[in-house]
Amino acid sequence: MDIIRFDTIDSTSSYLKREWNHLPDSTVVISQHQTAGKGRIGREWKDDTGSLLFSILLKEKLDEKRIHLLPLLCGTCLYEVLEKYGISSSIKWPNDVLIGGKKCAGILLESIFETKLEALVIGIGINVNSSSFDGELKDKATSLFLSTRKKFDMERFFLDYLQCFFSGYEKYLKKDDGFLAILRKHSYLEGKTVLLDYYHENRSCLVLGINDDGSLKVKEKDRVYSVFSGEATLQANYRK
Ligand code: BTN
Repeated sequence: MDIIRFDTIDSTSSYLKREWNHLPDSTVVISQHQTAGKGRIGREWKDDTGSLLFSILLKEKLDEKRIHLLPLLCGTCLYEVLEKYGISSSIKWPNDVLIGGKKCAGILLESIFETKLEALVIGIGINVNSSSFDGELKDKATSLFLSTRKKFDMERFFLDYLQCFFSGYEKYLKKDDGFLAILRKHSYLEGKTVLLDYYHENRSCLVLGINDDGSLKVKEKDRVYSVFSGEATLQANYRK
């Protein structure tokens, strides 16, 4: 695995999306700061000196049918690393990791299609030593530092994460999805009523669980169905 490091870049994910053709599979790009950090659904991802910002390029052995499992694998690895550091967290389908119900990390999966699926770029932003959040993030975000009052060695944490991710990814490639058991045990949404923003339509659903293909199984009135993408907000936390 090659690691490319920047002090500042627009976005580690945008860099990989520009350069993927020349770079080997499993290249990781990390930057101390991003000038145009991207979040999901076109949002921006702001950082400070306590943010861990990196992206992983995957080019080989891609299986379109199993793509939806990847952000969940990433989230579960983060859960496992946090557990080793003595921090308990939960994984919020499909892309977030929470500590005490507040978001400490986000995952952005992007794909590169030409005539076929050529590559995947997984961008991960983890609030490690961040000491405050402004505006609406104040109530919604946290960091490892804010939840433990301890400062963490960001490089150590990064390398621990990569080790966990690539060993999980090896198993994933062999269709060993043992991580799903950990995910289900620590899934934030399980059994909760959520508002599911599904193609801009809000649906109130009960979350029944996560399927083997990574989709979310929900119950809306008497109808049970599964969704592969969307944003789920706890009904109790929902504000228009
Ligand atoms: C989200 O929760 O909306 C996903 C956030 C992903 C942020 C990371 S930071 C590193 C990588 N580069 C980006 O521009 N975005 C991802």
